Amino acid sequence: MKELPMRAQAPFRRRPFRVGRLVLPVLIVIGFLWFTSDYHTPQSKYIVEFHGEPQLAQSQWDRLDAHLQKCEEYNRPLVSYALPVSANRSNPRWNPVSGQSQTTVLRNVTLFDGDSISAEPVDILFEEGVVRSISSTSANDIEIDSHTVVRHYNGEFVTPGLVDMHSHHLALSWPILSVSKDENEINPETGPLTPMVRSLDSLKPYDIATTIIASGGVTTSLILPGSANIMGGEAFPVKNLLRGGEHSEEVVEDLLLEHGIPKEDRRRYLKMACGENPKRVYHHTRMGNAWKFRHHMARAKDLRESQDAWCAAATIAKQNRDSSAAAGLLADGPSGKGGLPEELELDSTVAMLRGKININVHCYEPEDFEDMLLHSEEFGFHIQAFHHALSAWKVPELIKSSGQNITVATFSDFSLYKKEGYEGNLQAGKILAEHGVPLAFKSDHVEPNTNARYLLSQAATAHSFGLPEILALQSVTSVPARSLELHHRVGYTKPGYDADLVVWNEHPLSAGASPLQVYIDGRSTLEETAKHSEPAVVQKPSMRAETAPEDVQSFCSDPKHGVTVLITGISSSYLESEHVKQSSEGNLTMVLTNGKVDCFGEHAECASIKSFDKVISLRNGHVLPGLTTISNGLGLVEILSEDSTADGADDSKVNIYDPESAVYAKYGIHFEGKTFDRSRIGGVTRSITYPATDGFLKGVSTGIKTSEGSNPLNGGIYKDDAALHFVVGQEAKGSTQTPTVSKSVAALRKILSQNKGKDTLYGKAADGKIAVVVHTENKYDILQIIKIKKDYPKARLVVYGAAEAPSVADEIATAGLPLIFTAAHSAPVTWESKDLFVGPPLTISPVQVLVESDVNFALALLPGFDWHIANLPVEAAAIAKEAGLEAKEVVNLFTRKIDDILGFEGSERNTDFVIWEGNPLEYGANVVLTVDGDDKAIVGCWPEAQ
Ligand SMILES: *[C@@H]1O[C@H](CO)[C@@H](O)[C@H](O)[C@H]1NC(C)=O
Ligand SMILES: *[C@@H]1O[C@H](CO)[C@@H](O)[C@H](O)[C@H]1NC(C)=O
Ligand SMILES: *[C@@H]1O[C@H](CO)[C@@H](O)[C@H](O)[C@H]1NC(C)=O
Ligand SMILES: *[C@@H]1O[C@H](CO)[C@@H](O)[C@H](O)[C@H]1NC(C)=O
Repeated sequence: MKELPMRAQAPFRRRPFRVGRLVLPVLIVIGFLWFTSDYHTPQSKYIVEFHGEPQLAQSQWDRLDAHLQKCEEYNRPLVSYALPVSANRSNPRWNPVSGQSQTTVLRNVTLFDGDSISAEPVDILFEEGVVRSISSTSANDIEIDSHTVVRHYNGEFVTPGLVDMHSHHLALSWPILSVSKDENEINPETGPLTPMVRSLDSLKPYDIATTIIASGGVTTSLILPGSANIMGGEAFPVKNLLRGGEHSEEVVEDLLLEHGIPKEDRRRYLKMACGENPKRVYHHTRMGNAWKFRHHMARAKDLRESQDAWCAAATIAKQNRDSSAAAGLLADGPSGKGGLPEELELDSTVAMLRGKININVHCYEPEDFEDMLLHSEEFGFHIQAFHHALSAWKVPELIKSSGQNITVATFSDFSLYKKEGYEGNLQAGKILAEHGVPLAFKSDHVEPNTNARYLLSQAATAHSFGLPEILALQSVTSVPARSLELHHRVGYTKPGYDADLVVWNEHPLSAGASPLQVYIDGRSTLEETAKHSEPAVVQKPSMRAETAPEDVQSFCSDPKHGVTVLITGISSSYLESEHVKQSSEGNLTMVLTNGKVDCFGEHAECASIKSFDKVISLRNGHVLPGLTTISNGLGLVEILSEDSTADGADDSKVNIYDPESAVYAKYGIHFEGKTFDRSRIGGVTRSITYPATDGFLKGVSTGIKTSEGSNPLNGGIYKDDAALHFVVGQEAKGSTQTPTVSKSVAALRKILSQNKGKDTLYGKAADGKIAVVVHTENKYDILQIIKIKKDYPKARLVVYGAAEAPSVADEIATAGLPLIFTAAHSAPVTWESKDLFVGPPLTISPVQVLVESDVNFALALLPGFDWHIANLPVEAAAIAKEAGLEAKEVVNLFTRKIDDILGFEGSERNTDFVIWEGNPLEYGANVVLTVDGDDKAIVGCWPEAQ
C-alpha cells in the first residue's frame, strides 16, 4: 500500500519567514536559467542550490502544475448537458463523408417520444443525425425542399432507437470461436478484482451480431465485461452501426456512442458482480467475495485520501511558491515516481469513490442486494443499476431504501436457469413499477436465449403481465438511457436528440412487431420495400387478467368432473374440427360435459340442448388446440446449473452401440416445477421430453402431459417411447466413441445397418418402428442424413434443430426427410449454424423457405427455451406474420404436425384444446379451461404461474 508522508502542514509553519527571502533569489535563478541553454538541458530538472536553500527549477513547477491539473480533473464535475436539449445541437458522431447527407422527414407517424405517445400523427424531420423538429401532420407546416427525402406513412408507430444497457456483443463475436471470447478476464494472476480492464480492449468492430441486433430496433448498447469477477472492468456504450465512420472501415472508435467527444469528457461505466458467478469461478464464498471487495475498496479509499491530501498541499505550495514544500511533494515517494500518488490499477475504483463512474452491478438475490448496499454505504459509492436482478420484485422497498434511485435492469421471462435466477417472476415488471423502482429490460446478449435483437419482446411480455404500456415502452428506451446518463442524446425522440429512430410494422408491444426501418444517426439501415397504403395497426395489445373472475374461481375450486359448462362469447376457434359450426355473428357458444364437446355453434342452438351447471361468459373467447413442446428439460431438469435438480447428463461410460445403454426419459420424469406452471399458462398441454444427456446417444424421449396432478400412474405419460435421439454435430464431439462429427455419421449408419430385424431398441429404430430423431444443425451434416435416409429407407429419420435447413430445403423436400425445425427465431451463434436465416427484416423467413420448398416440417422452441414456454402461442403468431402464413397453419406446426412426424396414432395424438379469454396469438390472453382430449376431462382452470 502506498502511503503519502503527511507534508501538508509544513508550509504553514515556515511561511512567515520565507516570502521575502525567496523572491529575489528565485528571480535570479529564473533569469540565470533563461540566459543559458541549461534551461533546456536535462540538468534543469534538478533542484538548484542557491544560498543553501533548496530552490525549484521551473520545469519542476511545471510538473507540479501538471499534477495539479489532474487534481482539478479529480474534482471537476462530470460534463453536464443542459436539458431540454436544444434543437440545433449537433451529433458528434456525424461526419460529412458518410454521415446522413439528406434531410429526411417521416410523415404521418404515431410517435412514442420516450415520455408519451402522440395524440395525433406527426411529421419528424431530421438532418445530420439529429432530430430537428416534430410537428403535427395535420398542421402540414414542415418546410420541404428538393433535397429532402420524405417517407410517407399511414400512422405507423415510431419509437426512439431502443437502448440495451447490458450486452456482450462485439466483445464476443458471432459465430463464437474459442479465441474471440474476450468478455471475462478470468486469470489467477489478476483474480476476481479487475476494475482496471476495459471492454473497449475486446471489441471486434465486425461482429455480425451488431447488424442483427440493430434489425430488432436496438440502436444503442452498453458493452459490459462479463460477470465472472467481483469487479469486471469498465464498460462502453456503442451504436449498433458497423463501419459508420468517415472511411467506412472496421474501427472500434467509430462504434462508440461518444465518438467525437474529447476522451476526457466521455462517460465511464463499471461492471461489478455479486453472487454465484464470482463465487463459482474463484471458489470463494460470499463472505470471501465481500472481504476481497472491501479490502480492495479500502486500498482505493486510502489512495483517494492520499491524492486529496497531496492536492491540498500542492495547491498551497503553489500559491506560496514554496519550493521546499513543492520539492517534497515531487520527491520520490514510496511509489518511486513522486508527485501525485496514482495507481493505474486503482484508477476506476478511485473514480468510483469520486462519483465519476456509473456503476452497474450484476446481482440477483435479496441478500446480495442488501450486502452490496452495505458496501456502498461503507465506502460511499453510488450504485446506478442492479442487473439481472430476478429477485428484485421481492424487495423493491429494500432497493429503494438506499435512496440511490437504483435502476433494476432485468429480464421479463428469461429465468429459472440457475438458483439465483429461479425466483424470476413474470409479474416482476408490474410489481417493480408499482413500487416506483426505475425498470429497464436488457439482453445480456450472446446466446440465442439472450439475443439482444428480441429486446423489445421483453417489454411486450412484461406489458402482457401487467406493466403499463408507457412504462413498458420506457423500459427499453428512456429509462435505460437515463440510467446510462445519456438521456441528452438517446432514449428520446425530441428536437436535438440523435436521430436514432425505429419505424415499426405494428404496435411495438404486439406479437412479432418488427422494424420497417431503423435509423442510426439519421442513416437508414434497412432496405425498405414495403408500401404503406393500409392504415397502420397501432392498437395496443391487452394485458392478461391477473386472476380468475370470482364466478370462475368458485367453479375452479369445485370438482370439475360431472359438470356441464356453457361457455359463451367465443369469437374464434382454431380447431380443425368436426364440431365447429359456423356463426354469422362471430359469437359462438360451447357446451362441455366432462371435457366432451356437446355443442359448439350458435348460442340459441347450444343453449337449448341441455341443462348446465355453470356458465362462463367470455368477452373475446378463443379456442386453440393444446400445443406440444419438445424439450430436454421439462420433467427432467428443474434448475439447469444445479445437478441435484436434474436426472443427470453424464454419458462417459456409455457404449453407444449397445441399445441397453440408452437412457429412457419415461423413467425419470418428475411432474412438477416452474416450467410446468409456465407451460399451463401458455396453453402447452404436452411435451415430448428427451433425455438431457451429453454425447451422441441422447436416449429415448417420452410423451408427457403437463396438466396439474399428472403422474406416471394416471396417464401422465401418454407415449412411453416417443423417439430415439442421436446427435450428429458439434455437441456430440466430446464423447469418446464419437470424437468427430464424421464418426457420429458413421456410428448412426452402423447402428441402422447392424440391427435390422432385431427385437431391441436399435432393431426397432432400424425397422422404422420408432422414429429416429437426429439432432443436426449444419447443412452438410443434414445432407449426410439425407444420404443415410436413402441407404436405410425403412428407418423413420427425422432431423431436429436443422438451423441451416433453408439452405438445402430442396434436397430435404426431394428426399422427403421430415424436420422438427427449431431455428425460426435463432441466430448464427455457432460455426455449424453460421449460415442460418435470421429472418425479416434482414432475410426471408426461414419458415417461409421451408413452406415454399414443400418441406415436411413441424416447429419447436430452441432447446433450453423452456423458460419461454408461456409465450409459445405468441411465438407461433410471430412466425406466422414473418412467413406470411395463416396463424392457424403455424399453430398446427406446433401440435398435430409433431404427432404426424413422429408417427403417433390414436390416443397418442394431441387432441387437447384450450379455451382462452383473449386471442392467444397476441400478447395478453389467459387460459380459462384446458381440456384433455384423450381423457375427455377439464384438466386446467385459470392456471397461474410465476
Ligand atoms: C442553438 O440554439 C441556442 C438557443 O436555443 C442558441 O443559444 C445557440 O447559439 C444556437 N447555436 C447554434 C450553433 O446555432
Ligand atoms: C395518415 O394516415 C392515415 C391512416 O392512419 C390516413 O388516413 C391519412 O390519410 C394519412 N394522412 C396523410 C397526410 O398522409
Ligand atoms: C430516478 O431514475 C429514473 C430513471 O433513471 C429517472 O427517470 C428519475 O427521474 C430518477 N428520480 C430521481 C428522484 O432522481
Ligand atoms: C354472445 O352471445 C351471448 C348469448 O347470446 C350474449 O350473452 C353475449 O353478450 C354475446 N357476446 C358478444 C361479445 O357479443
